[in-house]
Amino acid sequence: MASISIKGLTKSFNAGDDAPAAVANLDLDIKDNQFVTLLGPSGCGKTTTLRMIAGYILPDAGTIHVDGRLVSAPGNVVPPDQRGMGMVFQNYAVWPHKTVYQNVVFGLKLRKMPAARLKAKMEETLALVNLTGLEQRYPNELSGGQQQRVALARSLVVEPEILLLDEPLSNLDAKLRENMRVELKRLQRRTGITFVYVTHDQAEALALSDHIAVMHGGRLQQYGTPQDVYARPANRVVADFMGLVNLVPAKVAGPGTLEAAGGLKLQVALPDGIKTGDSVEVSIRPENIRLNAAGNGAPATVSERTFLGNITEYYASLDSGPTLRVQTHPAQVFAVGDKVAVEIDATQCSVFRSSAP
Ligand SMILES: Nc1ncnc2c1ncn2[C@@H]1O[C@H](COP(=O)(O)OP(=O)(O)OP(=O)(O)O)[C@@H](O)[C@H]1O
Ligand SMILES: [Mg+2]
Repeated sequence: MASISIKGLTKSFNAGDDAPAAVANLDLDIKDNQFVTLLGPSGCGKTTTLRMIAGYILPDAGTIHVDGRLVSAPGNVVPPDQRGMGMVFQNYAVWPHKTVYQNVVFGLKLRKMPAARLKAKMEETLALVNLTGLEQRYPNELSGGQQQRVALARSLVVEPEILLLDEPLSNLDAKLRENMRVELKRLQRRTGITFVYVTHDQAEALALSDHIAVMHGGRLQQYGTPQDVYARPANRVVADFMGLVNLVPAKVAGPGTLEAAGGLKLQVALPDGIKTGDSVEVSIRPENIRLNAAGNGAPATVSERTFLGNITEYYASLDSGPTLRVQTHPAQVFAVGDKVAVEIDATQCSVFRSSAP
């Protein structure tokens, strides 16, 4: 429906002091009809970015174009209601004294739509978010997930080209959040609306997105598909944020060869500019480590075991080396104290220049 092009976007709330900018020099190209997620820890600048896209916050520098039209630049901003965007807030912000119908119809009445079209549009929108039959209920007669869908319907009924969603599922319990996740993704596919979604939950971002923009400290760290940012993190900040990871110090022993404490040797693809003798960190996901009862691998001892239902998690301490977090199929059982051989799928590891001096 609409593309968004962000260039050099910068915003500081406390001009003059030394605090880093809330958003610094952000470049982002969001294609038409995509589900893009801004992901990062609390305070990294996600909401500030979203509110600049919506037009509620003026940038200090940089530009935002929607379908080639300039909507934001310092001192030159198209008002929020003229951007063709809808926004769903974290706290739903539905009106408690209005019914579902009244909540959703509000935006259309402002537009003075003929009664017959209004009715058809309302029916279509409520069906889209599975609220048919609940039109006369008040918000306090709805579940959290249903209230969230009222907020969604209210944004959708005016047919936005872009929908901005700020942590919309964070108030829901785990099961409902998963259901709503599936519904949101379906909704995006069915409507073709460009979604820009904010969350600090990496699992949510992986499940929903066509592309993920990982942010940290106001800066974009990586922009790529869920597979890219998970399996090929651009730096250790991204590796660390995207799920569980073992970050192990190592030395480059030769071309493509790493050695770490505990007799760990790995054949890996090295990033450009890293040469023999350099200190690096290698990131190893727990699911890419295998524990063997005997045979191949570096010798280790099982120091902890946690049964998690679909997987079992172990801590395996390499003899005079680091302790690694390992996830295995629950059918494979070791006891604490067992001697094992640790085997690592080096093709799934990433190598970063060492951050320590
Ligand atoms: N109105 C404001 N005045 C001053 N500082 C602000 C304001 N809004 C945000 N900030 C600061 O800007 C930074 C980015 O805030 P932002 O709300 O964009 O983070 P966020 O990524 O959305 O975090 P969260 O996940 O906690 O919602 C933070 O350091 C925050 O304290
Ligand atoms: Mg926020």
